[in-house]
Amino acid sequence: MQVGIIGSGVVAQTLASGFLKHGHSVTVGSREPRKLADWQSANPAAKTGNFAETAAFGGIIVLAVKGTAALDALRLAGAVHLRGKTIIDTTNPIEDAPPDHGVLRFFTRQNESLLEQLQAGFPDAHLVKAFNSVGAARMINPHFAEGKPTMFICGNDSAAKLAVANVLDAFGWETADMGAAQAARAIEPLCMLWCIPGFLRNQWTHAFKLLF
Ligand SMILES: NC(=O)c1ccc[n+]([C@@H]2O[C@H](COP(=O)([O-])OP(=O)(O)OC[C@H]3O[C@@H](n4cnc5c(N)ncnc54)[C@H](OP(=O)(O)O)[C@@H]3O)[C@@H](O)[C@H]2O)c1
Repeated sequence: MQVGIIGSGVVAQTLASGFLKHGHSVTVGSREPRKLADWQSANPAAKTGNFAETAAFGGIIVLAVKGTAALDALRLAGAVHLRGKTIIDTTNPIEDAPPDHGVLRFFTRQNESLLEQLQAGFPDAHLVKAFNSVGAARMINPHFAEGKPTMFICGNDSAAKLAVANVLDAFGWETADMGAAQAARAIEPLCMLWCIPGFLRNQWTHAFKLLF
């Protein structure tokens, strides 16, 4: 696949390395692509570009930017470059404010989600929430003694969710499809839950698993 990764932070770089490891072509995007020079030197098979060049390159897109900037990042990427494409949405709607007793503050309310806002803004793209409820260090083929961890996903397009489930399978995850975009109202706060042991006890190495 040709994967266009919108974002230059730790999640973007981690997922880019994962896609490269699994044999895909990758472009990583930033408003200032020069900031990716060191990463590109270490990953010469990858390309870098601005958000629009990155989105144009991708047959599948990853959105890995600050939650407060997610809509703006997609606007810079350009609706024309997103039309009909699967967008793996890793973002969380985290407010620019410190956690309250280890609990992150969100700028969305309980019956809303960032994924729904993005989907409404870009109705011709197929957003799928994924990779938002684990730390970047455990995203690619993590090892847990208890077996494969679970990634909760949601989105409105079945084919897009199947494509994301295939990526998750290659990256060592089992997928739990929670349904339509509205399920992001439950999946995004898993990020809050995941971060609490980190903020309270400096524990950042866990992942969620759904048991039957
Ligand atoms: N860190 C983790 O372990 C982790 C785990 C799961 C999910 N997440 C979520 O994944 C997303 C990425 O997290 P991260 O830690 O890798 O990076 P981050 O620091 O949250 O975001 C960095 C990215 O946001 C972009 N950005 C910032 N302000 C912007 C603006 N005003 N307009 C457009 N773009 C802007 C930056 O673009 P430029 O390159 O142009 O500066 C950069 O690419 C976040 O939503 C986060 O909540 C993080």
